Amino acid sequence: MDLDVAVVGIGRVGLPLALAFADSGLRTIGIDAKEEIVSAVQDGRMPFDEPGAEEILGRVQANGTLEVSGSVAEAARARHIVLTLGTPSFSHIEIDVGQIRSVLDDLLPHLREGHCIVLRSTIAPGTTEFVAGYLEMHRGFTVGTDLFVAHVPERIAASRFFAEISTLPCIVGGVGERSGEVAAEPFAALGARVVHTTPVEAELAKIWTNILRYTMFALPNRLMMECEQYGANVFEVIDLINRDYPRGGMKLPGMTAGTCLRKDFTFSEERSPAPGMLLAVSRVNESVPLFLLDGVKRRLPGGKLRGRKVAVLGLAFKGDTDDERDSLSFKLMRLLERELALVAAHDPHSPSSTLTLAEAVADADAIVLATNHSAWKDPAVLRRIADLASDGAVLADPWNCFGQDAVFGEAETLAGQVERPEAPAPTVA
Ligand SMILES: NC(=O)c1ccc[n+]([C@@H]2O[C@H](COP(=O)([O-])OP(=O)(O)OC[C@H]3O[C@@H](n4cnc5c(N)ncnc54)[C@H](O)[C@@H]3O)[C@@H](O)[C@H]2O)c1
Repeated sequence: MDLDVAVVGIGRVGLPLALAFADSGLRTIGIDAKEEIVSAVQDGRMPFDEPGAEEILGRVQANGTLEVSGSVAEAARARHIVLTLGTPSFSHIEIDVGQIRSVLDDLLPHLREGHCIVLRSTIAPGTTEFVAGYLEMHRGFTVGTDLFVAHVPERIAASRFFAEISTLPCIVGGVGERSGEVAAEPFAALGARVVHTTPVEAELAKIWTNILRYTMFALPNRLMMECEQYGANVFEVIDLINRDYPRGGMKLPGMTAGTCLRKDFTFSEERSPAPGMLLAVSRVNESVPLFLLDGVKRRLPGGKLRGRKVAVLGLAFKGDTDDERDSLSFKLMRLLERELALVAAHDPHSPSSTLTLAEAVADADAIVLATNHSAWKDPAVLRRIADLASDGAVLADPWNCFGQDAVFGEAETLAGQVERPEAPAPTVA
């Protein structure tokens, strides 16, 4: 084995991890089935935004510690084979382990004693033991003794990879006697504090980290809907809950989604002893686009969206990222189009955004702040939106980006409550 680590699946999780291994001096290979990813990395280009990544890519290419390839068989050149493959959920509320199965099948003929398979993807409880059993059944290894299998979940938030990789505790759940110890080796090289546990505890810790967040955000989202029902202000109610109260902690509302939160709960729900609870959490978060649409519609003259221009600001699933996967902005736009509204979208980070802020907002009858980008957190932007939009345009700001403590309001009225910016005018495109 002439390499230390192979990372199979160099997407949003795998590529930063491969860069971190290579930058720590480990001889690393990154492997992906997508030709465009392999060639971008070979050309020294990041295929997506991750702060700090491009500089590290340049450095590891100069050092010669990172190779890339499209062939899974090449992974067998490394002792540690880290799988950072996608694990979507079927609509049956069941994990789809298809990418993992396919890579294991490609690897089977190449595995030798001493190899260590690390599952870095988010997986349903029992998946690590399934993988270990699959390798034992098909190749006759004894996992934990002559071949090693562990789950080492990724808990880093996108956009914070290089800040968190060496500071977050690294959970390692190894199968059998020695898998945990062997799997921890490359992660220890990154400076992370390793915490050993069982495979199923590692799996549960990861999925419940995300279930906790998904549920915590569903509560203010549900409260936002209830406040609308009673004519109450959700931001005031949340302030009343939290202010000077030691057992507060209610989060703020928003368009809660993204590729992880929207599916990781299904890995628990698929065998839940209390089925339905997490589905209800999901339904609350999934209802936010419709709630916003209805709120805007009710406030428009005549209560109709047909033929009205609606600007959707923000396509990414969360602030200051270009990641649009599983963003609720697209659901909102589909729902608006089904009301025959004229949708105009803008996102300063997005690869699929075509309109400028001015084009999207000009003469709009309604504006929805769908993503909490820092770009909007400037009173001057609110002023500009109010100036460009139609008279009486309705603004929906569920994230409270503009700090006006109003989920819905008239853009001009809200802009009037903030001080007029000193010249020069804001430079938002
Ligand atoms: N994105 C996040 O912020 C995040 C955070 C924590 C955990 N996770 C988990 O990490 C895992 C990966 O997520 P991601 O966002 O990086 O997904 P991704 O889709 O960006 O990356 C997966 C990569 O695997 C590649 N791939 C698929 N099948 C392959 C095959 N047969 N051979 C070679 N390459 C193959 C794909 O081309 C893709 O580039 C998932 O389980 C996810 O739930 C993601």
